Amino acid sequence: MGCDVSKSTDVIETEEIESDTFEFTDTQIDTIRSTWPILACDMTDIGSKVFLKIFLEEPKLKYIFSSFSDMEENELVHHPLFIDHVTRFMQIIDYLVENLDQEKSDFEQALLMLGAKHATFPGFQVSYLNLFTKALLEVWESAIGEEFIPEVQQCWAQLFTYIMRYIVQGYELYFSECQDDIVDEKS
Ligand code: HEM
Repeated sequence: MGCDVSKSTDVIETEEIESDTFEFTDTQIDTIRSTWPILACDMTDIGSKVFLKIFLEEPKLKYIFSSFSDMEENELVHHPLFIDHVTRFMQIIDYLVENLDQEKSDFEQALLMLGAKHATFPGFQVSYLNLFTKALLEVWESAIGEEFIPEVQQCWAQLFTYIMRYIVQGYELYFSECQDDIVDEKS
């Protein structure tokens, strides 16, 4: 009965993935790589700022992580699950920055599965990823400072759009697989 997450996230057939590619130019890659060390020198702190910002903007988001619901900011930033999620998401950016010029299909598959996994978290909505992108750009701006000129912002915005696009697609595929399961069960 229902949609089995292990089935939906194990493999997402490649023909289900939108075929248009998302290429980064050498200049964009250089720009991203030259500003990343400013952020990567304290990934937990920078990543925590992103999450604190989105929790402030949309307090309901805290309830998706069941153990965070009643926590104040100073308690939250020391919670292992909070640090774990922040670290995991910053490591994804780190990996991508490092491998932007490489073949990315395995990575894209992993992002699709991550999106499908997020679809299984009660209360998670795909629209929250827009808040997430907005918070990322604001935190990046405040950390990078004067160097965060429009060209730099555009490169990072493209990287975030790239990540979110696959997560959103994985999220949507999860629900379309659920629909297919329901149709199969009825027929
Ligand atoms: C508003 C945005 C987001 C919310 C509310 C959210 C929420 C969650 C929750 C509730 C979990 C499960 C935590 C646990 O109990 O272990 C999780 C896991 C995870 N999230 Fe997110 N997430 C968000 C965005 C992202 C983004 C943008 C990324 C990466 C780019 C990400 C990466 C991960 C990873 C790697 C895991 C672990 C998945 C696993 O265990 O297989 N999350 N997220």
